[in-house]
Amino acid sequence: MQMGYFITFEGVEGCGKTTQIRLMEDQFLALGYDTVSTREPGGCPIADKIRTILLDAENRAMSPLAELMLYDAARAQHVSEIIAPALSSGKIVLCDRFCDATIAYQSFGRGLDRALIDGLNRLACQGVTPDLTVLIDCDPTIGLTRARSRIEACSGPREERFELEALAFHERVRNGYRQLAADAPERFIIVDGSQSIAELFSAISTQLVARIPESTHAVC
Ligand code: TMP
Repeated sequence: MQMGYFITFEGVEGCGKTTQIRLMEDQFLALGYDTVSTREPGGCPIADKIRTILLDAENRAMSPLAELMLYDAARAQHVSEIIAPALSSGKIVLCDRFCDATIAYQSFGRGLDRALIDGLNRLACQGVTPDLTVLIDCDPTIGLTRARSRIEACSGPREERFELEALAFHERVRNGYRQLAADAPERFIIVDGSQSIAELFSAISTQLVARIPESTHAVC
């Protein structure tokens, strides 16, 4: 049973999701809402191990089908261990990517069958669905430039398998996200990712705070 409020953030590489989630988490906490932020792929130790395999730049030979199943395997664990329990206890959950990413990347990007993806997503989600999805719409050339400079500055594992994809792949992903938003306007909020961090935050927070239902109680 989903009692909290589930908000997902989506967009192409380097669109600014992670920064906005951090700012939104701080704002919800300041307003007194019990809030957790998490991400996909990953969000718990087992799913983080799957993330390492998925994003490793050395795994270029991974087949699209194996990739799809790994995303949904990680999701099944993440939903069971983190997202569903947090929602059951009434929390606001902010998640950096979720099922829409699988449709945008594995269906629009890679060309896998949409019905197959919808079926696997349903299985992995175990009835959990986003109440709201923020799409940070961004030109992939801008996003990839930001993402590549972040990777160059990072000394950790080389999580760049997707940044190495051709621009045309990222254009298909962006168009896929726009299509998903057009198909579900009641769930999606679209914001312009070319704005500054502060402008983007103002646009997102105004709309999100207004949409939190009164039944999602603040803890103080
Ligand atoms: P991140 O860079 O936002 O952490 O996301 C990791 C990468 O994984 C990003 O390139 C998008 C990709 N991805 C998919 O291809 N399918 C999915 O289902 C998810 C959750 C992410």
